[in-house]
Amino acid sequence: MTLLGTQDLSAEADGIAKAADLLRQGLLVAFPTETVYGLGGDARNGEAVAAIYEAKGRPSFNPLIAHVASTEIAKRFVEWTDQAEQLAQAFWPGPLTMVLPLQDDHGISSLVTAGLDTLAVRVPAHRTARALLASFDGPVAAPSANPSGQISPTTAAHVRTGLEGRIAAILDDGPCGVGLESTIVGLAGAPALLRPGGVALERIEEILQTELHHHQLGDLLTAPGQLQSHYAPDAPVRLNAQATQGAEVLLGFGDVTCDLNLSDSSDLAEAAANLFAALHKLNATGRPIAVSPIPDHGLGAAINDRLRRAAAPRD
Ligand code: TXA
Ligand code: MG
Repeated sequence: MTLLGTQDLSAEADGIAKAADLLRQGLLVAFPTETVYGLGGDARNGEAVAAIYEAKGRPSFNPLIAHVASTEIAKRFVEWTDQAEQLAQAFWPGPLTMVLPLQDDHGISSLVTAGLDTLAVRVPAHRTARALLASFDGPVAAPSANPSGQISPTTAAHVRTGLEGRIAAILDDGPCGVGLESTIVGLAGAPALLRPGGVALERIEEILQTELHHHQLGDLLTAPGQLQSHYAPDAPVRLNAQATQGAEVLLGFGDVTCDLNLSDSSDLAEAAANLFAALHKLNATGRPIAVSPIPDHGLGAAINDRLRRAAAPRD
């Protein structure tokens, strides 16, 4: 399908109704969540889901997250467990995704799960995401709204730069508050951290009263989408830099002299919210990027996960 342009929709009632209508027609709409902008399509419509993979240039073995309006609706699609209930009560709506066994008769396109017998589900907290899910009244498959492998989008302008002309519309409601993708917890077996993200691991372990299993960076078996090179700017990225070398620009953290600071007060939540916008901005300079050390606890673990992938060797 050729789309002449990508429509800008406001996050008012008429924009949300229009966006829900486009989803019903099997078209793709980018929308804000508290983590990053998502590229939404009807999760029950195989053609819409295929169009998501095509628009992103995403490998089709990498499954998608189904976004739903409430815990009650999530239970229609997956086998619920006590641990799922505990995490839903603590963190939904919010930046947590749970991977659970699919129900029978779930109605979700097998392209969403890439043929797996589990589904990743999330109830987002963002007012516009919630309004869209309520108006559409169905599950929305949504990866981050960026070309596969590139820096994730935290503003409508980032989405437009990456996907202009490839999607029907963008619902614009300003920058995302959390700025990092959701934390993904696998609950189909022993609880496992599949991707660090917007809810710190420590908080999840506190609720479940157990340590999560971890998968190693680049382990494709547990989270197929955790490809090693990801979130990548065009220029090389060097981590744990104390000072710049050659033409590098420095992305700082804390009390350092640098070109752009993620948080001069060393606040990890502020740094998370600024991370992707900072990478987009420094990428536009065309210069190599050096990054200050970031503490590896709380949201810092998720920030470092993204930075390691941004710095990983490219194919
Ligand atoms: O915050 C977020 O999670 C954002 C917003 C839009 O909600 N979405 C997002 O989607 O980050 P995406 O597609 O960029 O990342 C989804 C990750 C991928 O790494 C994928 O492999 C993993 O979830 N995933 C999806 N379904 C899975 C499953 N059944 N088992 C294991 N991993 C799964
Ligand atoms: Mg992504």
